[in-house]
Order: sequence, then structure tokens, then C-alpha cells
Amino acid sequence: MPVTPVLELRGIDKSYGAVKVLYDVAFTAYPGEVTALVGDNGAGKTTLVKGIGGVHPFDSGEYYFEGAPVRLGSPRDAAALGIEVVHQDLALCENLDIVENMFLGRERTRGLALDEAGMEAAATSTLSGLSVRTMGSVRRRVSDLSGGQRQTVALARAVLWDSRLVVLDEPAAALGVAQTQQVLELVRRLADKGLAVVLISHNMNDVFAVSDRIATLYLGHMVAQVRTGDVTHRQVVELITSGRSGDLGLPR
Ligand SMILES: Nc1ncnc2c1ncn2[C@@H]1O[C@H](COP(=O)(O)OP(=O)(O)OP(=O)(O)O)[C@@H](O)[C@H]1O
Ligand SMILES: [Mg+2]
Repeated sequence: MPVTPVLELRGIDKSYGAVKVLYDVAFTAYPGEVTALVGDNGAGKTTLVKGIGGVHPFDSGEYYFEGAPVRLGSPRDAAALGIEVVHQDLALCENLDIVENMFLGRERTRGLALDEAGMEAAATSTLSGLSVRTMGSVRRRVSDLSGGQRQTVALARAVLWDSRLVVLDEPAAALGVAQTQQVLELVRRLADKGLAVVLISHNMNDVFAVSDRIATLYLGHMVAQVRTGDVTHRQVVELITSGRSGDLGLPR
């Protein structure tokens, strides 16, 4: 039996006003796999992610979630399906602590009050279940966390809410080597739990270290989606910079 993709997009078009950004894009993400989404600055990666997450819905095309056609009008629709997007620009609320962020909009109550102890325990056990030990107290404010720790909180939120698809848009601020390593390990663990993970990255070493497939956007066109084991770094760099590499990508 063929595996049903968690996400399948076909014929996606998207413009911002008069500016066309995505052209007839196809994209598939499978359960248990990390799919890297690569492309040069401005290629349309974040635009694709904003459409997947319902932030800026696509203009046209087909969107299938776990095999069924869906229509997303808002981020709420995406969350209800089990889609967690860690956005490039803003993923968390700075002024709230880790627990509050993990339960934002879905707070637990006990009687009339918030179930603070219950939420704190669930946040703590989710983080320790992911072998995250570098966070300190779950009552720390997100504004005090490093970039890598913020991404970790966002990924833990995806696990807590039983997401099926997690999309991680590369953060604007670069992470340190150790932090990047931790986030990548967490990404791999989420895929090993059976989630579909989409990772946007400009770092080819990271892409090759963690991904099962690589999808390349070139000027708004999806020029190739291949198994990571079937391509070399050099081929992927060529696809990113010129839209083709040998038989792959745009026709000559
Ligand atoms: N809200 C917007 N309004 C108008 N144009 C936009 C908007 N957002 C993005 N664009 C344009 O769409 C194109 C694709 O942008 P996008 O942010 O998707 O690129 P990207 O692949 O994520 O790049 P990067 O690697 O730099 O994050 C760019 O030309 C950008 O200027
Ligand atoms: Mg982007």
C-alpha cells in the first residue's frame, strides 16, 4: 500500500497584489520524514509556508491533508487539522512564559480558574519526553530565551498538541552550532515519532544531515523534489542557483 502523504499540494498559485510569487507549485510531505524546503532568498519558501499554515491562503490549486481535500481560511483552520508552523518572523509571545506559550489559545481550566499546575506538569513532561534538558524553568519568559530555545518551545508545542505536520521556517537570526545541532536532533525525533516535518534551511550541511527529501523552489517554481540520498550537495546548490542540474529541474 502506498503511504498517504500528510500534505499534498498541486497547482498552487499565489500573488501578493500584482506580484506573482508561486507558479503551479506541487509539494508533498510524508509521515515519518523530514522534507527540506530550499531555495534562494525570495524564492517563495515563506510564502508557501504561510499558505500551508493558513496565514495567507493560496489563490488557487489543490490542498490535500492526509488524503482529503481541505480549504484553509485561517491559522485556526490549520491548527485544527494538526498543522504547527514555526514562523520565520514570529513564533512565540515574548511576554509570556514557556508554559503559557505552549498552551496559548488552548488553556486548560479547573473549575473557573486556569489549571496552572496541570499545564506546567504537561509542559515539563513534554519537554523531558523530547530529552530537552537545557531550558531551565518552564516559567521563564520567552523574551529571555535564546533562538534555539525558542524553536524548541515551538516544536514541543507541536508534540503537546499531537500535530501531524510541523513546518519550521528558518529563523531570521542564525543559531549557534550547538543550538542548531539540538534543534536538528529534535526535528529528527519528531519525524521518528511519525510526524511529517518540513524544514526550511539555507545550510546544506544541515539539510543533508537531517532530511529524507529535498524540495527546491527557484523563482517561485518547484523545480525538483528528490530523495536526499539521490543527489549531491553540488546538485542541490545548482538547483537553487540556476533551477536545473543535469536532468533535474527546469528543462533546457
Ligand atoms: N506580504 C508581501 N507582500 C508583497 N510581496 C511579498 C510579501 N511577502 C513576500 N513577498 C515577495 O514574495 C517573494 C517571495 O518571498 P518569500 O518571503 O516567500 O521568500 P523566501 O524564499 O522565504 O526567502 P528567504 O530565504 O529570504 O526567507 C519575494 O519577492 C518577496 O519580496
Ligand atoms: Mg523566508
